[in-house]
Amino acid sequence: MFFPRTSKFLNGAKLGTVLVTGGAGYIGSMLVSELLKNGYQVKVYDKMMFGVESLASFKSSPNLQIIKGDILDTASLERNMIDVDTVVHTAAIVGEAACAANQDLAIRTNYLGAVNVAKISKAYGIKRFIYFSTCSTYGKSDDENEVDELSPLRPMDFYGETKIYAERDIIRLADEKFSPIILRLSTVYGLSHRMRFDLVVNIFSKKAHHEGKITVFGGNQWRPLIHVSDVVKAVLTILEASLSKVGGRVFNVGGNTENYLISDLINLVKEVFPEVQVETLDAMTDQRSYRVKFGKIEQELGFRPEHTVLDGIREIKNALDKKTFVNVEDRRYYNHLIQ
Ligand SMILES: NC(=O)c1ccc[n+]([C@@H]2O[C@H](COP(=O)([O-])OP(=O)(O)OC[C@H]3O[C@@H](n4cnc5c(N)ncnc54)[C@H](O)[C@@H]3O)[C@@H](O)[C@H]2O)c1
Repeated sequence: MFFPRTSKFLNGAKLGTVLVTGGAGYIGSMLVSELLKNGYQVKVYDKMMFGVESLASFKSSPNLQIIKGDILDTASLERNMIDVDTVVHTAAIVGEAACAANQDLAIRTNYLGAVNVAKISKAYGIKRFIYFSTCSTYGKSDDENEVDELSPLRPMDFYGETKIYAERDIIRLADEKFSPIILRLSTVYGLSHRMRFDLVVNIFSKKAHHEGKITVFGGNQWRPLIHVSDVVKAVLTILEASLSKVGGRVFNVGGNTENYLISDLINLVKEVFPEVQVETLDAMTDQRSYRVKFGKIEQELGFRPEHTVLDGIREIKNALDKKTFVNVEDRRYYNHLIQ
């Protein structure tokens, strides 16, 4: 039977094939699992920096194809673009610590690699290309002002810069045949098939649970936060939206009520771990501070996060209580320790 590209059949039989770069990662593995549940055919394209265990619970699905490959390997990417309807590009060297540990790898992966995936997608006639950027690109917003998609980008770190270079070159590829969509994600938290304990909510929860103590540098920085399941929900919303609404556009991904001061976050951690000791140091090692508006994705696409940070902290506490992780200090949970 012939299925036209980006077709969607009402009985759910065929929703198209989505290639997810970085599909074995923290967000990618959660996205892949949900795409499969929703009837999509999925191809994971990932160089498996953190192993393949994140895909173990659904790897036998007949709708999943797992490819171990590098986004810098053009020939391999081209071979795997055949019969793909949509690309969700999540693969990256993620976080400032990981990028600082190997700047050459970071720029090649996050900038050259991302643009490579976009150009090949376009050459293969794939219209819908979803690129994962970050609200870190806003860097430091003026005083208490909230930033939106039109605000200037003032990255405070190399990671943010690499994502901006990619955004700019990818959006320039937009035309009637190619519709890139840029998603600037809030900082993510929550449990994943590929767990990360180097993200602020996850770190604080782990430290409160295991060490009974958290050290905070500064505390007056603003950060928008989002649960990993809500990121997945946002991507499904974008996948199902008409291209005329989303193509060639930038969306902040988060919720207007989900901007937190780090000091507010500490208070939420204390609600779940009342015994935790908090040490606050004046030195602000991380200068980023941004409060973000999420009205565009809410008003235009009806997307609103379902989870709050408190839900996320409780979820991690439950998992740690149950000893879900054999060793939370294992290097595979920390991006900067694996290259
Ligand atoms: N986690 C967050 O808080 C957050 C916030 C904003 C934006 N993002 C963006 O979301 C995306 C996913 O982040 P994550 O937290 O899931 O990170 P992650 O590190 O868990 O996943 C990244 C995946 O990309 C793969 N990868 C790296 N280089 C590759 C290459 N050259 N070729 C193929 N695969 C490669 C890795 O093996 C890994 O599985 C990234 O683009 C990141 O910038 C994440």
